[in-house]
Amino acid sequence: MCGIIGYIGNKNAVPILMEGLKRLEYRGYDSSGIGLINRKKLSVHKKEGKISVLEKTLSKTIHGKSGIAHTRWATHGQVNDINAHPQVSANGRIAVVHNGIIDNYSSLKSRLTSEGFKFQSETDTEVIAHLLQKYYTGDPEEAVQKALAQLDGTYGLIILFLDHPDILIGARNGSPLVVGVGEKEMLLASDVNALIAHTRQVFYVEDRETVLITKDSYKTVNMNNSVVSKQIEKIEWEMAEFEKGDFNHFMLKEIFEQPEVIRRSYGGGGRLLPGFGTAKLGGLNIEKSEYFDIDNIVTMGMGTAYYAAMIGAYLLENMARIPTVAEQSSELRYRNTIVRKGTLFFAVSQSGETLDTLTAMREIQNRGGRVLGICNSVGSTIARESDGGVYIHAGPEIAVASTKAFISQVSVFFLLALMLGRMRDIPTSAGKQYISELTAIPDKISEILEKADELKTLANKYKHYKNILFLSRGINYPVALEGALKLKEISYIHAEGFSAGDIKHGPIALVNEETPSLFIVTKGETFDKLLGNMEEIKARKGKVIAISNSEDNRIKDLSDDFFLIPESHEMVSPLLTVIPLQLFAYYIADALGKDVDQPRNLAKTVTVE
Ligand code: AGP
Ligand code: GLU
Repeated sequence: MCGIIGYIGNKNAVPILMEGLKRLEYRGYDSSGIGLINRKKLSVHKKEGKISVLEKTLSKTIHGKSGIAHTRWATHGQVNDINAHPQVSANGRIAVVHNGIIDNYSSLKSRLTSEGFKFQSETDTEVIAHLLQKYYTGDPEEAVQKALAQLDGTYGLIILFLDHPDILIGARNGSPLVVGVGEKEMLLASDVNALIAHTRQVFYVEDRETVLITKDSYKTVNMNNSVVSKQIEKIEWEMAEFEKGDFNHFMLKEIFEQPEVIRRSYGGGGRLLPGFGTAKLGGLNIEKSEYFDIDNIVTMGMGTAYYAAMIGAYLLENMARIPTVAEQSSELRYRNTIVRKGTLFFAVSQSGETLDTLTAMREIQNRGGRVLGICNSVGSTIARESDGGVYIHAGPEIAVASTKAFISQVSVFFLLALMLGRMRDIPTSAGKQYISELTAIPDKISEILEKADELKTLANKYKHYKNILFLSRGINYPVALEGALKLKEISYIHAEGFSAGDIKHGPIALVNEETPSLFIVTKGETFDKLLGNMEEIKARKGKVIAISNSEDNRIKDLSDDFFLIPESHEMVSPLLTVIPLQLFAYYIADALGKDVDQPRNLAKTVTVE
């Protein structure tokens, strides 16, 4: 969803807010705006389109020492100037930026309208601005508490009061909000990405908390208005990690970071015990004896994280021999699922803020279940509210299309499966073999990246097709789904992933000369079956692209195009098979001139259900 940022201090807020918006743009980017207080005047500037469009409209002279800003991903109301944030109270003295959805906005809007408030926008957010005016009688904190009490839904808010130019008030319920503690300046934002240029000292606002900041103080209160003390944490990420460097897009940079990202996923070795052929993962908060009580596992996530969760299920069942299923969080959330003592849940989320996964986790926890997080963003809500977990240490992932986080999530599942498997049936020798398979992956990814130009050529050959199918079997079936998602979300070409065994039960009707099929064919149990599926496609004049670790002539004879990847153990093969699919999607989208890092209609973090 959107990004919000607020600044209060001795500097001109405008460049700080605009720079911060650019660092938040990947979170949602259909319109943007800023609100400023200067010389007893509250001004608002907002525009449809990218932040660069807003920037062009701002005069160089605008100034203010306190301000708020927003980059929007519309949920209520068209994408236009009026519906952009900040939204302002009827008397023009209070401005608010909002991330989330106010579920009961319609009834609130009717009530406020009947009380004489005139609405300008179609947004749900505007009801907050008018409620604040309604309840403001000189005390901004009281007005905020009363207004929030009326709201059902999710919000991350930053509020500007013209009568109180020396404060900003933030509030959170369901959408992330973090405070940056600077030297004679204070910031509020949706995530640390917007703060790191100014301070590394941060603390996180929890649900139902509000925070009042001045340039040199902060006060957090809970919904009972009791003061809450906060632990200041240090952001570890480096500024450079938030920059594109020499790459044209963040996505390409993040694809090429993957060898190092895999090394970091096993802690550069710190998470491995080579002598014992197993892994050690801190933070799971599970007593040794409790591991034997785990008799089934559920992994959950959305989008790419769900596909990583699917691979995690394969790994845990195959290596640790623990019955494991993967679920889409949004389905699990409402499925009235059964939670038993021996069930362990894993919530997979790069951002740690995906509301579908967060609410599914809370549902499971409310039923007494134990949920561990597999997250990238340190201090994120899922990471903080889970019952323990593992950080993937992939570094900030800015491109909307997830790449390095995906393979890092899979690598962490491999470590978990190895650790649990060594507590059960995996002998030391096999454990050591698994470790050498994993530690060989970074160099094997590098080998694939060195052949990126082959994939660029392939992409140019297939970039004009309107539909492309992705097929595989076994542990690479989720990789086919992930490859299809990568292509469709950045190139807008319709792409669909299938289990190759399923193709003849209907989807093969889609196959003709105009609909090519990309197969992931790795050595193993289903190799010959996949060859058979390729035959079925060819028999119907469908073009076939094969990504394979085998040079068997039968594959080459059946393929119109062939890309060789290094051999590996089947259980780590997704870490390799996905790389060509990422580059295939990237080069097609780039060749088509698409906005690779910020595709239309999308946002990096989906903080609405
Ligand atoms: C992946 O390329 C997409 N951007 C999207 O499916 C994403 O994986 C999904 O929204 C989950 O995000 P999360 O990992 O931050 O929870
Ligand atoms: N619901 C608000 C709107 O549609 C905020 C959306 C967002 O999080 O960007 O304007």
